[in-house]
Amino acid sequence: EKGGHEFFMLKEIEEQPAGVADTLIGHYADGQVVLDEQRWSDQELREIDKVFVVACGSSYHAGLLAKYAIEHWTRIPVEVELASEFRYRDPVLDRSTLVVAISQSGETADTLEAVRHAKDQKARVLAICNTNGAQIPREADAVLYTRTGPEIGVASTKAFLAQITANYLVGLALAQARGVKYPDEVAAEFNHLELMPKLVAKVLESAPQVRAIAREFAHQSTVLFLGRHVGYPVALEGALKLKELAYIHAEGFASGELKHGPIALIEEGVPVIVVMPSPKGRAVLHSKLLSNIREVQARGARTIVIAEEGDDTVRPFADHLIEIPAAPTLYQPLLSTVPLQIFAAEVAMQRGYDIDKPRNLAKSVTVE
Ligand code: M6R
Repeated sequence: EKGGHEFFMLKEIEEQPAGVADTLIGHYADGQVVLDEQRWSDQELREIDKVFVVACGSSYHAGLLAKYAIEHWTRIPVEVELASEFRYRDPVLDRSTLVVAISQSGETADTLEAVRHAKDQKARVLAICNTNGAQIPREADAVLYTRTGPEIGVASTKAFLAQITANYLVGLALAQARGVKYPDEVAAEFNHLELMPKLVAKVLESAPQVRAIAREFAHQSTVLFLGRHVGYPVALEGALKLKELAYIHAEGFASGELKHGPIALIEEGVPVIVVMPSPKGRAVLHSKLLSNIREVQARGARTIVIAEEGDDTVRPFADHLIEIPAAPTLYQPLLSTVPLQIFAAEVAMQRGYDIDKPRNLAKSVTVE
Protein backbone atom coordinates (compact mmCIF):
# COMPACT_ATOMS: atom_id res chain seq x y z
CA GLU A 1 0.00 0.00 0.00
CA LYS A 2 3.07 2.25 -0.08
CA GLY A 3 2.81 2.00 -3.85
CA GLY A 4 6.31 0.59 -4.22
CA HIS A 5 7.83 3.25 -1.99
CA GLU A 6 9.87 2.61 1.10
CA PHE A 7 7.81 5.14 3.07
CA PHE A 8 4.26 6.48 2.94
CA MET A 9 5.64 9.99 2.96
CA LEU A 10 7.39 9.43 -0.37
CA LYS A 11 4.16 8.14 -1.87
CA GLU A 12 2.24 11.08 -0.43
CA ILE A 13 4.68 13.58 -1.93
CA GLU A 14 3.98 12.01 -5.32
CA GLU A 15 0.24 12.12 -4.77
CA GLN A 16 0.28 15.90 -4.54
CA PRO A 17 -0.79 16.72 -8.09
CA ALA A 18 -3.83 14.46 -7.65
CA GLY A 19 -4.55 15.91 -4.19
CA VAL A 20 -4.70 19.45 -5.53
CA ALA A 21 -6.81 18.37 -8.53
CA ASP A 22 -9.24 16.36 -6.41
CA THR A 23 -9.64 19.20 -3.93
CA LEU A 24 -10.83 21.41 -6.79
CA ILE A 25 -13.38 18.94 -8.16
CA GLY A 26 -16.94 20.17 -7.98
CA HIS A 27 -16.00 23.62 -6.72
CA TYR A 28 -16.73 25.53 -9.87
CA ALA A 29 -20.12 25.34 -11.47
CA ASP A 30 -22.26 27.70 -13.53
CA GLY A 31 -19.58 30.36 -13.49
CA GLN A 32 -19.27 30.33 -9.70
CA VAL A 33 -16.94 28.98 -7.05
CA VAL A 34 -18.94 26.77 -4.68
CA LEU A 35 -17.91 25.48 -1.27
CA ASP A 36 -19.34 22.19 0.04
CA GLU A 37 -21.72 21.82 2.95
CA GLN A 38 -21.82 25.56 2.98
CA ARG A 39 -25.11 26.67 4.32
CA TRP A 40 -24.43 30.38 4.30
CA SER A 41 -26.20 32.60 1.83
CA ASP A 42 -24.31 35.16 -0.25
CA GLN A 43 -25.86 37.78 2.00
CA GLU A 44 -24.32 36.11 5.06
CA LEU A 45 -20.95 35.85 3.32
CA ARG A 46 -21.18 39.53 2.45
CA GLU A 47 -21.59 40.39 6.12
CA ILE A 48 -18.23 38.92 7.01
CA ASP A 49 -15.89 41.74 7.90
CA LYS A 50 -13.03 39.84 9.49
CA VAL A 51 -11.43 36.46 9.05
CA PHE A 52 -9.38 34.51 11.57
CA VAL A 53 -7.49 31.43 10.50
CA VAL A 54 -6.58 29.05 13.32
CA ALA A 55 -4.42 25.94 13.00
CA CYS A 56 -1.27 24.21 14.26
CA GLY A 57 2.00 23.13 12.65
CA SER A 58 1.95 22.76 8.88
CA SER A 59 -1.74 23.61 8.78
CA TYR A 60 -0.83 26.93 10.39
CA HIS A 61 1.70 27.55 7.62
CA ALA A 62 -1.04 26.89 5.06
CA GLY A 63 -3.12 29.38 7.04
CA LEU A 64 -0.40 32.02 6.74
CA LEU A 65 -0.72 31.68 2.97
CA ALA A 66 -4.49 32.13 3.18
CA LYS A 67 -3.91 35.62 4.50
CA TYR A 68 -2.02 36.75 1.38
CA ALA A 69 -4.71 35.46 -0.94
CA ILE A 70 -7.85 36.34 1.01
CA GLU A 71 -6.80 39.91 1.84
CA HIS A 72 -5.59 40.51 -1.70
CA TRP A 73 -8.74 39.18 -3.30
CA THR A 74 -11.41 40.33 -0.84
CA ARG A 75 -9.96 43.30 1.07
CA ILE A 76 -11.27 41.66 4.27
CA PRO A 77 -8.70 41.77 7.10
CA VAL A 78 -7.35 38.30 7.91
CA GLU A 79 -5.50 37.26 11.05
CA VAL A 80 -3.75 33.94 11.26
CA GLU A 81 -3.19 32.51 14.66
CA LEU A 82 -1.78 29.40 16.25
CA ALA A 83 -4.80 27.58 17.60
CA SER A 84 -3.03 27.07 20.91
CA GLU A 85 -2.79 30.84 21.42
CA PHE A 86 -6.14 31.91 20.03
CA ARG A 87 -8.62 31.48 22.83
CA TYR A 88 -6.31 32.49 25.64
CA ARG A 89 -5.99 36.06 24.48
CA ASP A 90 -9.70 36.82 24.23
CA PRO A 91 -9.94 37.54 20.48
CA VAL A 92 -12.63 39.93 19.29
CA LEU A 93 -15.25 37.77 17.57
CA ASP A 94 -18.88 38.18 16.59
CA ARG A 95 -21.42 37.06 14.01
CA SER A 96 -19.63 38.87 11.24
CA THR A 97 -16.35 37.08 11.93
CA LEU A 98 -15.42 34.02 9.90
CA VAL A 99 -13.11 31.62 11.69
CA VAL A 100 -11.41 29.17 9.35
CA ALA A 101 -10.05 26.17 11.25
CA ILE A 102 -7.54 24.16 9.23
CA SER A 103 -6.77 20.62 10.33
CA GLN A 104 -5.69 17.61 8.30
CA SER A 105 -6.81 15.15 10.96
CA GLY A 106 -9.76 17.16 12.22
CA GLU A 107 -8.87 15.97 15.71
CA THR A 108 -6.19 18.41 16.87
CA ALA A 109 -7.15 19.41 20.41
CA ASP A 110 -6.04 23.03 20.25
CA THR A 111 -7.78 23.64 16.93
CA LEU A 112 -10.94 21.99 18.25
CA GLU A 113 -10.89 24.20 21.34
CA ALA A 114 -10.37 27.26 19.13
CA VAL A 115 -13.47 26.21 17.15
CA ARG A 116 -15.48 25.85 20.35
CA HIS A 117 -14.34 29.23 21.59
CA ALA A 118 -15.25 30.86 18.27
CA LYS A 119 -18.71 29.26 18.33
CA ASP A 120 -19.29 30.41 21.92
CA GLN A 121 -18.57 33.93 20.73
CA LYS A 122 -21.09 33.51 17.87
CA ALA A 123 -18.51 33.61 15.09
CA ARG A 124 -19.14 31.53 11.96
CA VAL A 125 -16.79 28.59 11.75
CA LEU A 126 -15.60 26.92 8.56
CA ALA A 127 -13.43 23.82 8.87
CA ILE A 128 -10.91 22.83 6.22
CA CYS A 129 -10.28 19.18 6.91
CA ASN A 130 -8.92 16.05 5.25
CA THR A 131 -10.79 13.50 7.36
CA ASN A 132 -14.49 12.89 6.81
CA GLY A 133 -16.57 13.07 9.92
CA ALA A 134 -13.75 14.07 12.28
CA GLN A 135 -14.57 16.13 15.35
CA ILE A 136 -13.61 19.56 14.00
CA PRO A 137 -15.81 19.34 10.89
CA ARG A 138 -18.60 17.92 13.06
CA GLU A 139 -18.55 20.95 15.31
CA ALA A 140 -17.97 23.58 12.61
CA ASP A 141 -20.87 25.35 10.89
CA ALA A 142 -19.49 24.52 7.45
CA VAL A 143 -16.83 22.24 6.01
CA LEU A 144 -14.57 22.30 3.01
CA TYR A 145 -12.88 18.94 2.61
CA THR A 146 -9.40 18.61 1.17
CA ARG A 147 -9.68 15.48 -0.91
CA THR A 148 -6.19 14.15 -0.94
CA GLY A 149 -6.86 10.78 0.67
CA PRO A 150 -5.59 9.62 4.07
CA GLU A 151 -2.21 11.01 5.01
CA ILE A 152 -0.26 8.37 6.92
CA GLY A 153 3.20 9.93 7.20
CA VAL A 154 3.45 12.03 10.35
CA ALA A 155 4.97 14.86 8.35
CA SER A 156 2.27 16.64 6.43
CA THR A 157 2.89 16.94 2.69
CA LYS A 158 -0.06 16.35 0.40
CA ALA A 159 -2.50 17.73 2.97
CA PHE A 160 -0.50 20.96 3.05
CA LEU A 161 -0.85 21.54 -0.69
CA ALA A 162 -4.51 20.62 -0.57
CA GLN A 163 -5.06 23.04 2.33
CA ILE A 164 -3.51 25.90 0.36
CA THR A 165 -5.86 25.01 -2.50
CA ALA A 166 -8.89 24.96 -0.19
CA ASN A 167 -7.89 28.30 1.36
CA TYR A 168 -7.80 29.85 -2.07
CA LEU A 169 -11.27 28.50 -2.82
CA VAL A 170 -12.52 30.21 0.35
CA GLY A 171 -10.89 33.46 -0.75
CA LEU A 172 -12.48 33.26 -4.18
CA ALA A 173 -15.90 32.40 -2.76
CA LEU A 174 -15.74 35.42 -0.44
CA ALA A 175 -14.54 37.72 -3.22
CA GLN A 176 -17.33 36.53 -5.46
CA ALA A 177 -20.03 36.95 -2.80
CA ARG A 178 -18.85 40.46 -2.01
CA GLY A 179 -18.72 41.36 -5.67
CA VAL A 180 -15.13 42.61 -5.36
CA LYS A 181 -14.06 40.34 -8.18
CA TYR A 182 -15.85 40.04 -11.48
CA PRO A 183 -16.97 36.55 -12.49
CA ASP A 184 -14.32 36.42 -15.21
CA GLU A 185 -11.62 37.30 -12.67
CA VAL A 186 -12.80 34.52 -10.36
CA ALA A 187 -12.83 32.17 -13.35
CA ALA A 188 -9.26 33.19 -14.24
CA GLU A 189 -8.02 32.45 -10.70
CA PHE A 190 -9.83 29.11 -10.68
CA ASN A 191 -8.16 28.32 -14.00
CA HIS A 192 -4.75 29.02 -12.46
CA LEU A 193 -5.60 26.61 -9.67
CA GLU A 194 -6.59 23.99 -12.20
CA LEU A 195 -3.22 24.35 -13.94
CA MET A 196 -1.30 23.71 -10.74
CA PRO A 197 -1.43 19.88 -10.62
CA LYS A 198 0.51 19.68 -13.90
CA LEU A 199 3.09 22.12 -12.63
CA VAL A 200 3.44 20.26 -9.31
CA ALA A 201 4.05 17.11 -11.36
CA LYS A 202 6.80 18.95 -13.21
CA VAL A 203 8.45 19.91 -9.93
CA LEU A 204 8.39 16.25 -8.92
CA GLU A 205 10.53 15.49 -11.97
CA SER A 206 13.37 17.40 -10.33
CA ALA A 207 13.36 15.01 -7.33
CA PRO A 208 16.62 13.22 -8.33
CA GLN A 209 18.45 16.55 -8.46
CA VAL A 210 17.00 17.65 -5.11
CA ARG A 211 17.97 14.33 -3.51
CA ALA A 212 21.53 14.66 -4.80
CA ILE A 213 21.77 18.11 -3.22
CA ALA A 214 20.26 16.81 0.01
CA ARG A 215 22.90 14.06 0.23
CA GLU A 216 25.56 16.73 0.20
CA PHE A 217 23.96 18.45 3.19
CA ALA A 218 22.94 15.39 5.17
CA HIS A 219 25.36 15.94 8.01
CA GLN A 220 24.80 19.58 8.79
CA SER A 221 23.78 20.66 12.25
CA THR A 222 21.94 23.83 11.18
CA VAL A 223 20.04 24.78 8.04
CA LEU A 224 18.43 28.19 7.55
CA PHE A 225 15.54 28.99 5.23
CA LEU A 226 14.76 32.43 3.83
CA GLY A 227 11.67 33.63 2.04
CA ARG A 228 9.61 36.73 1.62
CA HIS A 229 5.90 37.41 1.02
CA VAL A 230 4.36 33.99 0.17
CA GLY A 231 7.88 32.54 0.26
CA TYR A 232 8.03 33.20 3.99
CA PRO A 233 5.46 30.56 5.06
CA VAL A 234 7.18 28.22 2.59
CA ALA A 235 10.48 28.84 4.40
CA LEU A 236 8.79 28.09 7.73
CA GLU A 237 7.30 24.89 6.32
CA GLY A 238 10.65 23.78 4.84
CA ALA A 239 12.30 24.29 8.22
CA LEU A 240 9.55 22.40 10.05
CA LYS A 241 9.90 19.44 7.68
CA LEU A 242 13.65 19.31 8.20
CA LYS A 243 13.51 19.55 11.98
CA GLU A 244 10.75 17.01 12.44
CA LEU A 245 12.19 14.44 10.03
CA ALA A 246 15.95 14.88 10.24
CA TYR A 247 16.24 16.29 13.80
CA ILE A 248 18.38 19.11 12.47
CA HIS A 249 18.16 22.59 13.86
CA ALA A 250 16.31 24.35 11.07
CA GLU A 251 14.82 27.80 11.11
CA GLY A 252 12.80 29.77 8.60
CA PHE A 253 13.04 33.55 8.43
CA ALA A 254 11.30 36.35 6.64
CA SER A 255 14.27 37.55 4.63
CA GLY A 256 13.57 41.18 5.51
CA GLU A 257 14.44 40.24 9.09
CA LEU A 258 17.91 39.04 8.17
CA LYS A 259 19.68 42.20 9.28
CA HIS A 260 17.60 42.35 12.45
CA GLY A 261 19.35 39.35 13.93
CA PRO A 262 19.49 36.11 11.94
CA ILE A 263 22.46 37.19 9.81
CA ALA A 264 24.57 36.79 12.96
CA LEU A 265 24.08 33.03 12.54
CA ILE A 266 25.79 33.01 9.16
CA GLU A 267 29.29 31.56 9.22
CA GLU A 268 31.46 29.63 6.82
CA GLY A 269 29.62 26.64 5.37
CA VAL A 270 26.13 27.20 6.86
CA PRO A 271 23.53 26.07 4.32
CA VAL A 272 20.89 28.68 3.52
CA ILE A 273 17.92 27.66 1.43
CA VAL A 274 16.32 30.61 -0.32
CA VAL A 275 12.84 30.68 -1.84
CA MET A 276 13.03 33.29 -4.61
CA PRO A 277 9.89 35.15 -5.64
CA SER A 278 8.93 35.12 -9.27
CA PRO A 279 10.86 37.73 -11.28
CA LYS A 280 7.58 38.49 -13.04
CA GLY A 281 5.85 39.34 -9.77
CA ARG A 282 6.77 42.44 -7.80
CA ALA A 283 10.30 43.32 -9.00
CA VAL A 284 11.17 44.93 -5.69
CA LEU A 285 10.71 41.67 -3.79
CA HIS A 286 12.87 39.81 -6.24
CA SER A 287 15.71 42.33 -6.05
CA LYS A 288 15.59 42.39 -2.25
CA LEU A 289 15.90 38.61 -2.05
CA LEU A 290 18.75 38.77 -4.51
CA SER A 291 20.67 41.12 -2.26
CA ASN A 292 19.91 38.87 0.73
CA ILE A 293 21.46 35.90 -1.06
CA ARG A 294 24.51 38.02 -1.86
CA GLU A 295 24.81 39.04 1.78
CA VAL A 296 24.73 35.52 3.13
CA GLN A 297 26.99 34.18 0.42
CA ALA A 298 29.54 36.91 1.08
CA ARG A 299 29.63 35.68 4.69
CA GLY A 300 30.40 32.13 3.68
CA ALA A 301 26.93 30.55 3.51
CA ARG A 302 26.35 27.78 1.01
CA THR A 303 23.21 28.72 -0.86
CA ILE A 304 20.54 26.47 -2.25
CA VAL A 305 18.18 28.60 -4.28
CA ILE A 306 14.69 27.69 -5.43
CA ALA A 307 13.85 29.97 -8.32
CA GLU A 308 11.61 30.19 -11.31
CA GLU A 309 12.88 28.60 -14.54
CA GLY A 310 14.83 31.09 -16.59
CA ASP A 311 15.56 33.39 -13.63
CA ASP A 312 19.25 33.66 -14.49
CA THR A 313 19.88 36.58 -12.18
CA VAL A 314 20.23 34.15 -9.25
CA ARG A 315 22.83 31.89 -10.88
CA PRO A 316 25.93 33.75 -9.70
CA PHE A 317 24.76 33.51 -6.08
CA ALA A 318 23.40 29.98 -6.03
CA ASP A 319 25.75 27.17 -5.09
CA HIS A 320 22.83 24.95 -6.03
CA LEU A 321 19.87 26.03 -8.11
CA ILE A 322 16.54 24.21 -8.09
CA GLU A 323 14.23 25.44 -10.81
CA ILE A 324 10.46 25.42 -10.60
CA PRO A 325 7.97 26.30 -13.35
CA ALA A 326 6.68 29.84 -13.61
CA ALA A 327 3.40 30.54 -11.81
CA PRO A 328 1.64 33.67 -10.57
CA THR A 329 2.99 34.74 -7.16
CA LEU A 330 0.12 33.44 -5.02
CA TYR A 331 0.37 30.00 -6.57
CA GLN A 332 4.13 29.62 -6.31
CA PRO A 333 4.01 28.03 -2.81
CA LEU A 334 2.28 24.99 -4.31
CA LEU A 335 5.49 24.49 -6.27
CA SER A 336 8.29 25.82 -4.06
CA THR A 337 7.26 23.70 -1.05
CA VAL A 338 7.74 20.43 -2.91
CA PRO A 339 11.56 20.48 -3.24
CA LEU A 340 11.76 21.31 0.48
CA GLN A 341 9.71 18.20 1.34
CA ILE A 342 11.95 16.05 -0.85
CA PHE A 343 15.07 17.64 0.64
CA ALA A 344 13.96 16.97 4.22
CA ALA A 345 12.94 13.39 3.49
CA GLU A 346 16.23 12.60 1.78
CA VAL A 347 18.37 14.16 4.51
CA ALA A 348 16.45 12.16 7.12
CA MET A 349 16.81 8.91 5.15
CA GLN A 350 20.53 9.52 4.72
CA ARG A 351 20.73 9.77 8.49
CA GLY A 352 18.89 6.48 8.75
CA TYR A 353 15.62 7.73 10.21
CA ASP A 354 12.08 6.46 9.77
CA ILE A 355 10.49 9.38 7.95
CA ASP A 356 6.96 8.08 8.46
CA LYS A 357 7.31 8.04 12.22
CA PRO A 358 9.68 10.70 13.45
CA ARG A 359 10.65 10.40 17.11
CA ASN A 360 8.43 12.01 19.76
CA LEU A 361 5.69 12.95 17.28
CA ALA A 362 2.15 11.70 16.76
CA LYS A 363 0.09 12.08 13.60
CA SER A 364 -2.63 13.87 15.45
CA VAL A 365 -2.15 15.77 18.65
CA THR A 366 -5.31 15.12 20.61
CA VAL A 367 -4.12 16.57 23.90
CA GLU A 368 -3.54 20.25 24.47
O1 M6R B 1 -4.12 17.38 11.80
P1 M6R B 1 -3.70 18.81 11.87
O2 M6R B 1 -3.60 19.45 10.54
O3 M6R B 1 -4.54 19.62 12.81
O4 M6R B 1 -2.24 18.76 12.48
C1 M6R B 1 -1.55 19.93 12.77
C2 M6R B 1 -0.10 19.63 13.09
O5 M6R B 1 0.00 18.77 14.19
C3 M6R B 1 0.64 19.01 11.90
O6 M6R B 1 0.58 19.81 10.76
C4 M6R B 1 2.12 18.79 12.27
O7 M6R B 1 2.78 20.02 12.44
C5 M6R B 1 2.82 17.94 11.21
N1 M6R B 1 3.64 16.95 11.85
C6 M6R B 1 3.68 18.76 10.30
O8 M6R B 1 4.35 18.00 9.36
